[in-house]
Amino acid sequence: MNQDEQKRLAGRAAMRYVEDGMVVGVGTGSTVAHFIDALAERRHDIEGAVSSSDHSTRLLKQHGIPVLDLNATGELHLYVDGADECDDAKCLIKGGGAALTREKIIAAASRRFVCIIDPGKRVRVLGRFPLPVEVIPMARSYVARELVKHGGQPVWRDGVVTDNGNWILDVHNLHIADPEGLERELNQIAGVVTVGLFAQRRADIVLVGAEPMP
Ligand code: 5RP
Repeated sequence: MNQDEQKRLAGRAAMRYVEDGMVVGVGTGSTVAHFIDALAERRHDIEGAVSSSDHSTRLLKQHGIPVLDLNATGELHLYVDGADECDDAKCLIKGGGAALTREKIIAAASRRFVCIIDPGKRVRVLGRFPLPVEVIPMARSYVARELVKHGGQPVWRDGVVTDNGNWILDVHNLHIADPEGLERELNQIAGVVTVGLFAQRRADIVLVGAEPMP
């Protein structure tokens, strides 16, 4: 089975967790696009969605799914999102689509975080995928120098501006043995908006294709 088919299966499998009347938190990416397709079939059963990016907002609206403001909805029951890497403890690297800040906010504001991935995203140790870090533009070089002190090689994702008007550094060559610790440390660097490590608030359930990870 090819990668896109696995993503489609994962997107559809996440529908098991959608209940009538819910406001659903919706992530960003090609796997989530399959989830949005499936969610559209039940758009009359749910109250609406909270979106993690302008891109997902467009998709949701195209499908006739109401997009709601997180400030008005309060805590969400469910957040569904993809990932770039996932370890055995359900810690994630996210932000390949540059939507990490809003994704982290919705994950934090949700009771259950269901992560949908294809098998290629599973790793033993996080860090093969360059770690995205969203930074305030004026802090780019300072943050890059600090990231080098942590053993990484930051590369500016030139030309990419996030939905929040910020920039992304992709940090190569990290071997992330302690995801929670590194997330905490990198969060302390002045000018860092969001680190693409989702370890403190990791996934509750990971669907690899249609199968839940143990
Ligand atoms: C966006 C993300 C995505 O979830 C991640 O990049 C995975 O994307 P895809 O489902 O297209 O492989 O974190 O910021």
